[in-house]
Amino acid sequence: MTIKAVVFDAYGTLYDVQSVTSVTDEAFPGYGELISQIWRLKQLEYTWLRSLMGRYEDFSVITRQSLAFTLRTLGLSFNDAVFDRIMDKYVHLDLYPDAKDALTALKGRKLAILSNGSTDMLNALVQNTGLDKILDATISIDSTKTYKPNPQTYTLVETKLGLKPHDVLFVSSNPFDACGAKAFGFNVAWIERVTPQAMADEFKKADLVRPLSMFKALRMQMDEYGWEPDHRISALMDLPKIAKNAG
Ligand code: LAC
Repeated sequence: MTIKAVVFDAYGTLYDVQSVTSVTDEAFPGYGELISQIWRLKQLEYTWLRSLMGRYEDFSVITRQSLAFTLRTLGLSFNDAVFDRIMDKYVHLDLYPDAKDALTALKGRKLAILSNGSTDMLNALVQNTGLDKILDATISIDSTKTYKPNPQTYTLVETKLGLKPHDVLFVSSNPFDACGAKAFGFNVAWIERVTPQAMADEFKKADLVRPLSMFKALRMQMDEYGWEPDHRISALMDLPKIAKNAG
């Protein structure tokens, strides 16, 4: 088997969605962690529910609506300037520290992003973080008017890169995305950033469960759909070896 392309999920995989906490906590001191978790949980929930309702709105709308939900639910008042400052972080998210080195080490194959993000959001993010110089393509699902893990979204890799699913290594840290990609037919590497042991230890020690621990439990542990990713890795830097061994 030869891997001709490595295709990455963006949010949570190359980019650390938790890095929004710097701005959410600055805007609402003491609430940063809670805002960040409810926001991300709702954002993904809205993608799935809007897909089921047949009421697609692009990811920038969903990201705004889920942030508005979060601030309203927590009883936090805000003006447009505060709201926009928080939103702006979505086009300046932090890359995981090993992202650039891992991508550079994978050169020689096609490298791309396939993300729920809208074209505008993704292009801005990729440019602001310098990945536009490394990636061959940044693919938004927005032309499909639905969201991952709908199989239609994954077909864009063949449409845009001209490669069959078995030629592609798809990389995600989001379990729902890794499972969706596996069900679709990609070779899949799932980044397990929180091991089951570390997760269990976090709950054992806690008197009070932190919002971030709940997020890790709900969104960072492997799901029970019955699909296993081909590779479980702990960091992006594990990818060059996998791609090399695959040929
Ligand atoms: C993405 C979401 C799944 O980047 O995080 O597509």
